[in-house]
Amino acid sequence: MSGASVVPVITVDGTSGSGKGTLAALIAKRLGWHLLDSGALYRIVAAVGLARGIDLQDASQLASAVASLDIKFHDAGVVVDGQELGLRIREEAVSSGASVVAALTEVREAVLDIQLAQRRPPGLVADGRDMGTVVFPDAPLKIYLDASLEARAERRYKQLIDKGLAANLLALLAGLQDRDQRDKGRTVSPLKPAPDAFIIDSTSLSIDAVLALTLERAHAIGLV
Ligand code: C5P
Repeated sequence: MSGASVVPVITVDGTSGSGKGTLAALIAKRLGWHLLDSGALYRIVAAVGLARGIDLQDASQLASAVASLDIKFHDAGVVVDGQELGLRIREEAVSSGASVVAALTEVREAVLDIQLAQRRPPGLVADGRDMGTVVFPDAPLKIYLDASLEARAERRYKQLIDKGLAANLLALLAGLQDRDQRDKGRTVSPLKPAPDAFIIDSTSLSIDAVLALTLERAHAIGLV
């Protein structure tokens, strides 16, 4: 067993807009553990590909671009080659591009080492689609978070409106549905719960209730 593998990991996988990013950040803060937002890595690949005019289906060009990038996560976002990309990677074109590049095996292999390197003491909370199934299959606690399509679209709508941004509920619904289909239907690392995942449906639960359930589970298995 390598040194890194004894560092505890809590994985939070699930559908887009289910609240897994928020949940993962809250758990990491509560426990004082590191946080890996793995979706940000696929968003970075898409953003860099779009900025450099690389075809988002061109796996080898995208993978070699990843290998040359200097990626640094910090509390409020991510710096790539010295440039703050926090907001840019949340744009709709990048969100959609991220789920396209994430279906490419070479791209997934290129980001794997970056993900594994985030496993540092005292522990790691990792959110994404395959954290529990592929990247950290030995994680002692695996959460799979889901919510109805309507609930997820309404939450996104409210977040955008609260930020003073334009939003269209039907377009958000369609965008989430597309991403669900791509993430669940791809052959490489499809989105699905790990066999030993603790599944939470957050459709009618507040984020505080989801956090409480997760921490209860972590206590119950003696993790914290
Ligand atoms: O979680 P987020 O919405 O930021 O992820 C952006 C995209 O990256 C997702 O739609 C998904 O296709 C991809 N992704 C993935 N595997 C992960 C995390 C994200 O394929 N572990």
